[in-house]
Order: sequence, then structure tokens, then C-alpha cells
Amino acid sequence: MSAEAPAGQTAAVKVNPNGPTEETVLAVEHYTDRLFRFRLTRPQSFRFRSGEFVMIGLPKEDGKPLLRAYSVASPSWDEELEFYSIKVPDGPLTSRLQSIKVGDKVLLGRKPTGTLVLDALTPGKRLYMFSTGTGFAPFASLVRDPDTYERYEQVIVTHTCRDVAELTYSRNLIDSLKDDPLVGELVGGKLALYTTTTREPYPNMGRITTLIENGKLFTDLGVPPLDPSTDRAMMCGSMEMIQDTKALMIKAGLTEGSNAAPAEFVIEKAFAG
Ligand code: A2P
Repeated sequence: MSAEAPAGQTAAVKVNPNGPTEETVLAVEHYTDRLFRFRLTRPQSFRFRSGEFVMIGLPKEDGKPLLRAYSVASPSWDEELEFYSIKVPDGPLTSRLQSIKVGDKVLLGRKPTGTLVLDALTPGKRLYMFSTGTGFAPFASLVRDPDTYERYEQVIVTHTCRDVAELTYSRNLIDSLKDDPLVGELVGGKLALYTTTTREPYPNMGRITTLIENGKLFTDLGVPPLDPSTDRAMMCGSMEMIQDTKALMIKAGLTEGSNAAPAEFVIEKAFAG
């Protein structure tokens, strides 16, 4: 019973059954002044497919929720939820979200959705996941899902960022999978992470679009060029990155799929502000 409610009466609490739930921050890790990840409690009723996104936010000063779309970075079997976020200094949400601490509350939407799911692709042999910046988030979910390895013989994740520090999240995560109790044995020999930078010296440099076009990606990985009979692809990054990568998939003969009509590649814009 709340302190405001007189004995014998129930406090009138306005709960919107479709509105966001309030979740508790369990962990926060900052990588650079532009990037961080956080983990939240997961309500039992929250179901999603690995690769989907959901609305995340904080209450505004007027009490109304301020929400933005975020890919869930944890897999569907995880008891907690993980998110990987950019920090935009004057971004309405991320300027505040970046200072959350363990124990704080974050709003979580109730309806996860999205096209970067295994079910939106037709069966194939090799799965590519092309990402830039925070576009790696949905793939952080999918590489931890055993279903990914049951469906594909080979899984290739590419991550391109401006500088080396921005690759920390993907490199640490993929590295840790070797010891993962659920997928540790599945990833061996099947999963490859291909990282590149564009603005800071690194052994492997260049935009992913350039590396697909000039064939360096395939030579480096020792795989044949893109082939619609064997290859499937997912892309997540800025609008421009998606458009440019999509054009290369179409040029290679792959067709775009969706939940309603699965095909050979699917796209999603990364959360940006
Ligand atoms: P670049 O440094 O050449 O702009 P951001 O942090 O701005 O989201 O960028 C993340 C990465 O995506 C950067 O390495 C950036 O390269 C790259 N990128 C930006 N636009 C495109 C594009 N149209 N196609 C492929 N990669 C891109």
C-alpha cells in the first residue's frame, strides 16, 4: 500500500497497458566518448527474436516518455537485456542516457520488431552481417544465438568504424564467445569477425563497400565472391551505408527480403540520435 492511499483504499495508479515498462540498469560500460553499452532487467513477458529492435527511453520533464528505437544486443535466451548506444552531445535522449548508473530506471517498450531476423532470410550456406558503428548491435544478439549456427555453415560479421577504439565492443564480444557455454562450441571454425577502420591506421582499412567492390573482403576471408545461391546478408548502419551496401547486394544478384517475404538480404538503419 502506498503512503498516499488511505487505509482500505487503493491508490489510483494510471498504468498504460501498452506503454513502456520501467526497468533497472544492471551494468554500464563506456568504450569511448561516443559509445557505451548498458544492461537492463528483462520482464518475463518481454519476448523478442534475436536481431529485433525495441523502443528505449527516459521520462521527460513533463513526465511523458522520450523513446528511441534500439536494437537489442543480447540474444533472445538471455535473462537480461543489453543495448549498445552512441552518445550524441545534443541528442534529446542519448545526452541524458549516457549518464545512467547501475540502479537507475530506463523505459522499455513492449513491442519488439524488425527485419534483421533469421526468419526473414531464405536458407543458405553463408551468412554475412555487414555493420558500421552502432549497427553492430543486432549482430551482437545474433552471434550469441545458437540458431544462427544451426542454419548456416559459415557466419561472417564485418564491423567498420572510424577508429580502433570504436571496435572494442565487437572485438571483445566475439573474443568472449569461445568461452560461451551456449555457443562456444558452435562458433569454432564457423564464425569470423572482419574489422576495419576508416580514419585511424589499422592493419585492415577501408569502407566495407570498397572492400566488397574491390574483392579484398573475399580474398582476405578465403571465400568466393557473393553468390545468391549460397550467400545471405544482413546490413545495419547509417542510411548511406545501407543504401550503398544494398546496391552492391543487388548487383551481386541478391534480392531483398522481409518477414512477410523472406529472401536473400535484409536491412535496418542503426539508431542514430
Ligand atoms: P568514413 O570514415 O569514411 O565516413 P559513423 O561513425 O559516421 O556512423 O561511421 C561509421 C563507419 O561507417 C565509418 O568508418 C564510416 O566511414 C563508414 N561509412 C560511412 N558512410 C558509409 C557508406 N556510405 N558506406 C560504407 N561505409 C560508410
